[in-house]
Amino acid sequence: MTDFYKCSICGKIVKVIAEGKGQLVCCGEPMTILSTFKSVQEVLDFAIEKEEEARQFYLDWSNKLDNKALREQFLQFAGEENQHKEKLQRVKSGSTFKPSAKQVTDLKIVDYLVDIVPTPDMDYQEALIVAMRREKASFKFYNDLAAMAEDEPMRETFLALAQEEAKHKLRLETWYEKEIYTEN
Ligand SMILES: [Fe+2]
Ligand SMILES: [Fe+2]
Repeated sequence: MTDFYKCSICGKIVKVIAEGKGQLVCCGEPMTILSTFKSVQEVLDFAIEKEEEARQFYLDWSNKLDNKALREQFLQFAGEENQHKEKLQRVKSGSTFKPSAKQVTDLKIVDYLVDIVPTPDMDYQEALIVAMRREKASFKFYNDLAAMAEDEPMRETFLALAQEEAKHKLRLETWYEKEIYTEN
C-alpha cells in the first residue's frame, strides 16, 4: 500500500513511490505517516479541509477558464463546496456524530486522498481529471461516514453530501466528454 506522510507544520502531504531507509523531514520536523483517523474530530476536520480545498480549487479555476459556461459551473461548484464546509462545521459544533473508536480507526485516510496534486501549470484537461477524482473520493468518504452514523438525521446529512459529490462528478464527466473528446 502506498504511504503518505504529512507535515504537521505546513500541511504538505508527500507520497512514497519507492521505499528507502531515510526519514522524511519537512519544516525541520520528522513527517508523520497518514494512516487512519484517531478521533471523530479528526475525521470532521479532514472533511472540512477537503471542502475548503475543493472550494478554492473551483474558484481559482473559474478565473482561468475561457469557456464562460464552464466558468459559471465552477463558480457554482465553489459555492456548493462552501455550503458543504458550513454544514460540516455545524456537525462538528453540534457533535451528534458519535461513531465508535473502532469505526473511526478503521477509516484509511489514503482511501480519501487523490494522488495527483493540482499544480499551477496544469492545463484545464488535467484540472478536470483532478476534480473528477476528488469528487469520487469525497463521494466515497461521505458514504462511509453515513454508514458509521447511528442517528437518522446524521446519516441523511452524510448521504445528502455523498449525493451532491456524485452529481459534481457526473457533471464534470459530462464536461470532460463534451470538451475534450469533441476537441480532438
Ligand atoms: Fe463537497
Ligand atoms: Fe464536490
